[in-house]
Amino acid sequence: MRIVVLGAGGREHALAWKFAQSPLAEAVWASTPVADAEPGVRVLPALDDPAACAGFCRDQSIDLVVIGPEAPLVAGWADELRAGGLTVFGPDARGARLEGSKVAAKEFMRRHGIPTADFAVCRDASETKARAARFPGVPVVKYDGLAAGKGVAVPDTLDEAVDFAAGAFTAGQSAVLLEERLTGPEVSLLAITDGRGVVLLPPSQDHKRVGEGDLGPNTGGMGAYTPVPGCDAAWLAGMEKLVFEPFLAGVAAEGFDYRGVIYAGVMLTAQGPMVLEFNCRFGDPETQPLMCALDGDLLPSVWSAARGQLAARPLEAQAALCVVLAAAGYPGTPVTGDEITGLADARQIPNVKVFHAGTRREGDRYLTRGGRVLGVTGVGETLVEAAKAGYAAVGKIHFPGMHHRRDIGARALHPRE
Ligand code: AMP
Ligand code: GLY
Repeated sequence: MRIVVLGAGGREHALAWKFAQSPLAEAVWASTPVADAEPGVRVLPALDDPAACAGFCRDQSIDLVVIGPEAPLVAGWADELRAGGLTVFGPDARGARLEGSKVAAKEFMRRHGIPTADFAVCRDASETKARAARFPGVPVVKYDGLAAGKGVAVPDTLDEAVDFAAGAFTAGQSAVLLEERLTGPEVSLLAITDGRGVVLLPPSQDHKRVGEGDLGPNTGGMGAYTPVPGCDAAWLAGMEKLVFEPFLAGVAAEGFDYRGVIYAGVMLTAQGPMVLEFNCRFGDPETQPLMCALDGDLLPSVWSAARGQLAARPLEAQAALCVVLAAAGYPGTPVTGDEITGLADARQIPNVKVFHAGTRREGDRYLTRGGRVLGVTGVGETLVEAAKAGYAAVGKIHFPGMHHRRDIGARALHPRE
């Protein structure tokens, strides 16, 4: 099978690396700057629109296109590529609206009985104050549209909530969501689906705040690990009934062509699990530890889902833990163009894989190119082993201003603290 992976982040590097190991894969084209250093991976040229992508796929006799990021999915790339006869892993634009519009997602959840926090929709800044005051405590405020991880505030005061909403409208949002503030640990539940059935991936946990102890501003994710203690097979079966069966009923009722990943961000509250958000793609950075942890071949599930005939097979997994190395300034404007050293030393450490997210190559050197630079991932039979390997590799890598969290997986590794 000849496969294209669209998208240039750490998630797509992890997917391309995993697919290339499949006996079914003849070659995988990917945009990661390390494409030509990965066995079985080739360099994907820049493809700026679906027509360019379709042309490349025809020329190279591509069998499967996997769309990594949300933006092209929301923009309808899957629809266009399928209309051109390609087999695509990624939902149509209507399905992708579950991520592209938080209001659409909440209304979908309400229509189909998926547990989620109470909410109100504001279409104008002047509405926010009165609506926010009706919530018990201060509501969470969310941009309706995509905002690259920066569209959510968990404010402490009503004034802050109103200010954030006003900023959202100023930034061009046409709606703002107010949501009852919940508390509890969060779990990322990703499933591969053909729109009729699901295969759940092992539960994982992301670390969204920039600082240790979950302090500081939200980021795209500073690290992730799998498995999550307490979220065992029986629990997962319960989540399939609670969240994914009603999701599938909703997809059928609304006529989405949903072949791809459905990612539910779930908070485990005292009142039971609640879905905070849906994403229409693999998580980043959750995919990095997931691809390392999965023992078997993921490609049959992805390929069968893309063809609308999901072959459900249980996925066995080890433990894995990914530490994101971020550039100075992130999650604000990152400093870029600095040389990264120690990558070869990190590679010498067993059971480690370093995924490139925000790097570029210049000759033999790698330079920083974005906020989240690398995803250093350790794997092992236990999370303790995975963390040991991952952090040993982190210790080898350096660039000016590099920062990372030293407490990835702490909740699982030191449950009483
Ligand atoms: P979202 O993009 O909707 O998942 O929100 C980003 C982050 O904001 C989540 O991972 C939570 O940490 C936090 N968050 C979102 N919704 C709520 C809520 N209703 N109550 C408390 N925290 C929330
Ligand atoms: N890790 C959060 C996300 O992928 O949206």
